Amino acid sequence: MARTIAVSGSGSGIGKALAGMLRDAGDTVIGIDLRDAEVCADLAGPEGRSRAVAETLDLSGGTLDGVVACAGVSEFTVLPVKVNYFGAVALLDGLRPALARAGAPRAAVVGSISGTHPVDDAVVRACLDGDEAAALEAAGKAVEAGAGNRTYSSSKAALAQWVRCACVTPEWAGEGIPLNAIAPGVVRTPMSEPLFADEAMFKVMNEAVPMPLNGYAGAGVIAEALRWLISPVNTHMTGQIIYVDGGAEPTLRGPGVF
Ligand SMILES: NC(=O)c1ccc[n+]([C@@H]2O[C@H](COP(=O)([O-])OP(=O)(O)OC[C@H]3O[C@@H](n4cnc5c(N)ncnc54)[C@H](O)[C@@H]3O)[C@@H](O)[C@H]2O)c1
Repeated sequence: MARTIAVSGSGSGIGKALAGMLRDAGDTVIGIDLRDAEVCADLAGPEGRSRAVAETLDLSGGTLDGVVACAGVSEFTVLPVKVNYFGAVALLDGLRPALARAGAPRAAVVGSISGTHPVDDAVVRACLDGDEAAALEAAGKAVEAGAGNRTYSSSKAALAQWVRCACVTPEWAGEGIPLNAIAPGVVRTPMSEPLFADEAMFKVMNEAVPMPLNGYAGAGVIAEALRWLISPVNTHMTGQIIYVDGGAEPTLRGPGVF
């Protein structure tokens, strides 16, 4: 049966691959992105987030079978905290009532193997407290201290923890909505292009994200995993951070984490 799915970051990389797959299968996709999407909105700030939710609700008629938060940025500034955490959470929270009206609703986010890397604890804590001003202040201090890479890892670690907290609440589990994350390793998309173009960054990336199984993934690999998570067959998996990373996570964390 055709479903209606909202996908943020639908204009590029993983989100674009997922939107294409869903459309090819006959689903209606409401893409949300900065440009070239059914809903053009900037998820970095409150106004854009509210508009994204309102316009998606309008286009869907108030009922959604799935929501996937793919939009993200990886730069070493405070922006990942705004987009990857607060943008994703605002979208999911705002669209959750529309999911609750569907017969077999599903939600997913795109995390990252980076969520297992060192983080800035103050950023993660403020994110989970829902205090964006404090999170941005802490992220700004990390950038000034030369630890700008931690804004990305912190945004993804916080997002993973938010998924695990929210998934079992009455609003999500109680409404029959599985909520999970796919955490990729390195994926060949426009986001990762600069890492391949710079020899020093390439070396750091390979050390930080070792991928013994089949190397770097294509966007379609991650999209397939997301597609399963939001399909009606996923009736009982929730709160899981699924590493689709060529073995990076077991390499880095070892056998004691499961
Ligand atoms: N590419 C990788 O190696 C990799 C690895 C791990 C996780 N991820 C995550 O996967 C997700 C998708 O990344 P990708 O590789 O497809 O990147 P991408 O750059 O190809 O696509 C990201 C999309 O998000 C959109 N976006 C960015 N900021 C936005 C904003 N403020 N408001 C609305 N839309 C915005 C962009 O316009 C773009 O279309 C991201 O959350 C990213 O953190 C990527």
